[in-house]
Amino acid sequence: MSEAKQSSMPLIFERSTHGARATDLPALDVPRAALPAGLVADRPPALPEVGQLDLVRHYTHLASRNFSVDANFYPLGSCTMKYNPKLNEAAAAMPSFTGLHPLQDDADAQGALKMLYDLRLWLAEIAGLDEVSLQPCAGAHGEYAALKVIRAYFNDPKGGNAPHRRKVLAPDTAHGTNPASCAMCGANVVKVPSNAHGMVDLDALRKLVDGETAALMITNPNTVGLFDGTIVEIAKILHDAGALLYLDGANMNAIVGVSRPGDFGVDVMHYNTHKTFSTPHGCGGPGSGPIAVRKFLAPYLPVPQVEKKSDGSYFLDHNRPKSIGKVRSFFGQFGVLLRCWTYIAACGPDGIRNVGQVSVLNANYLAARLSDRFEMPYFSPERKHYCAHEFVTVPKSLLSRGVTLIDIAKRLIDYGIHPPTMHWPIHDCLMVEPTETEGKAALDRFVEVMNLIADEIEQTPALLKDAPNRAPVRRLDEVAAARTPVLTAQA
Ligand SMILES: Cc1ncc(COP(=O)(O)O)c(C=O)c1O
Repeated sequence: MSEAKQSSMPLIFERSTHGARATDLPALDVPRAALPAGLVADRPPALPEVGQLDLVRHYTHLASRNFSVDANFYPLGSCTMKYNPKLNEAAAAMPSFTGLHPLQDDADAQGALKMLYDLRLWLAEIAGLDEVSLQPCAGAHGEYAALKVIRAYFNDPKGGNAPHRRKVLAPDTAHGTNPASCAMCGANVVKVPSNAHGMVDLDALRKLVDGETAALMITNPNTVGLFDGTIVEIAKILHDAGALLYLDGANMNAIVGVSRPGDFGVDVMHYNTHKTFSTPHGCGGPGSGPIAVRKFLAPYLPVPQVEKKSDGSYFLDHNRPKSIGKVRSFFGQFGVLLRCWTYIAACGPDGIRNVGQVSVLNANYLAARLSDRFEMPYFSPERKHYCAHEFVTVPKSLLSRGVTLIDIAKRLIDYGIHPPTMHWPIHDCLMVEPTETEGKAALDRFVEVMNLIADEIEQTPALLKDAPNRAPVRRLDEVAAARTPVLTAQA
């Protein structure tokens, strides 16, 4: 049976009636012109023909089948799926921005350039660093651009003057993009082990840092949701050896407005603005990954850089001889940067601090309330081991009853909650990131649902094996869906 029939909604092809139209075009008021012969097919394409109401119902129905932050709690760890204020969308849809051509003269684009310039300064201030490039268009792209900057600095006889420094260290909890970016930049990646508390093992780090080391790429709070309080010591170990400290800022949501990476020793970092400063994202886009650096790295930043003249006007500076060059067309991911500007402007400094504080409060509240039945390897208020903006649970005792993590994840869908991240960064874990935008009632409901599922595991585990039962699509064979997708409609 086709999926459409399962959900008793005909496919748009099944609604098609010959001659029906969704639009009413005005009468032709220019001479009719024939299309070039090569562009004309023998017969019209087999497109559905429907009236406007059917068309609207079709798309409204499809939209209602989607899982979204606007409709559901979405605690997907490491993704910061926060609510995206509609104000951002209004700003990004302003015709004065959408109608701007990227090749327009600087003089005609002063408003857009001012926005970029403000954002450049704000992101530098939030980072506690000196200069920012807005060019990279994703977190991973920021990593790549920053590693290129680090390489350019060490290759420069008047800069770091140590071209042999090609080793980059990364903790064993690092996101996969960290070693991948290193590999793309030709750096040798060396893994730094974590200690029993999930933090960087300092003794191991000391042994690994040497005269070949260019940098350590650290994520702090790290990917198990812990803020590494030894970060100042880590920075010192790197700096004493002539190497740099790189921060993967994907988890900035936990510390934004509270603690500045530049103040705890970071030399260069990237932001994931689509996470920390809101933008609807997922499934690979859209994103933006600005990088922030200390002054000595600024000459190597990508071009163009947005600058302000003494007369107060803005321009794009392409003339930076030590720059690593272009990493992206035009000005970076303009629409996402504009949303980021709007979000920071609307929050103001106190609001931004509140983001960091409440995201951490929410995660600790959830971890504390869930810890009776869901084991938390790194969370122990008695020992003052708190989490940052997210936490991992490894629910061993529940899993020992014959259910799997995927069963729990699919059952959450039945209760209208997006499953947390699974099996990353450690095996058999769920990583939960509630974000600051959820109120106490939504958090309490999540606790209630998780406890219900724990009851089901103990009393009626078979219920989980078939889940989801109440979603538009039942459990998929994920391997077959990925390897042999059927992308055509079957009537
Ligand atoms: C810790 C960490 N670093 C880097 C990235 C990569 O960011 P992006 O997906 O924007 O490329 C992610 C994305 O999930 C992440 O969680």
